[in-house]
Amino acid sequence: MFQFSQGKHTTQGHKGIPEGHFEEEQGRSGFYGPVSHLIKPKPSTRWTAIDGPLRPHMYDVPAMDRNWGQNQRMFYNQDVTISNLWEKKTQQTLETAFRNADGDLVYFCHSGLGQILTEYGLLEFRKGSYIMIPKCVTHSFYFGQDTNFLVIESKTSSFREPDRGMVGKNAFYDLAALVKPDLAALKIFIDQKKSNVTKVRVVREGQPTLFTYAEDIYDTVGWKGDLWPYTLHVDDLMPMISARVHLPPSAHTTFVARGFVICTFLPRPLESDADALKVPFYHQNMDYDEVLFYHDGNFFSRDNLKAGMISLHPAGFPHGPHPKAVKNIGGKTHTDEYAVMIDTWSNLKIDQGLDPVELKEYWASWK
Ligand SMILES: [Fe+2]
Repeated sequence: MFQFSQGKHTTQGHKGIPEGHFEEEQGRSGFYGPVSHLIKPKPSTRWTAIDGPLRPHMYDVPAMDRNWGQNQRMFYNQDVTISNLWEKKTQQTLETAFRNADGDLVYFCHSGLGQILTEYGLLEFRKGSYIMIPKCVTHSFYFGQDTNFLVIESKTSSFREPDRGMVGKNAFYDLAALVKPDLAALKIFIDQKKSNVTKVRVVREGQPTLFTYAEDIYDTVGWKGDLWPYTLHVDDLMPMISARVHLPPSAHTTFVARGFVICTFLPRPLESDADALKVPFYHQNMDYDEVLFYHDGNFFSRDNLKAGMISLHPAGFPHGPHPKAVKNIGGKTHTDEYAVMIDTWSNLKIDQGLDPVELKEYWASWK
């Protein structure tokens, strides 16, 4: 297909939208494929009713019953499972470890702090840390505080860094920002906390198997290689911006796996060109279901939101900022929101466990 235009149109997406009009982006393959920008007198989010399964969903996860230590699955398909996990501050000597033989795990720390024992060394985490645990890497958490994780499991591939394309290898985050496991710190931790981990719970196809040893399993004296667990903190992500035009969410891609991507939206200056769109654009991301987890800050593009909530916008319906956000943007020069987005190629199913905390009127919030 080639570029074609007719009627009132822009020459640069998200910029110079005719006065009193709205732009809707319709795009394939995330934000990488064929794309058109339609100019309309009213946004396509002005529905008066939605009947059928494509309603957008919003869940008040912090209001959920706290089953400490139990993963609450929220959304899933063949490639990814997205869960919520609350963990109590550790009171006892560590005795068990976990190994996930079903896939790679990313734990995003929404609140809390602690340490992670691995056979590669000790890792530290705090609010805003991504913790990357490759498939089958044995690990034990020590929680310094009650902790809440968003857990993202990749079941059909390992995670990789995003393609950095023409911005080069240091963009969005430098690989030097990945925090490596510290073997010396692990030895000190074991001595000080008297931890003695002799049981390993391994999960394969959802079924647990318990391995028991006579001695502590965290006995590595050295290692080499390019497979290791690590952490990456949101403070070490350097959001890309253009003063002249709103960049697509894909500019914030943090991790990539088969069938989905993880993006991180962070505080950043807003576009300064007078004719630049300053709110997230109205769009149909035609090939992807979109999960957005609201971590921290002021979520200016949505109304009545609080930290810890999570939304699902299925492919097939247009979405964009709430009318209030468009009004509120006024004199704002910066965003101060932290959010994690997971875009999935295959449709996501919703776990029934979320039903009690669904905000049923979310679909009407664009009115
Ligand atoms: Fe979207």
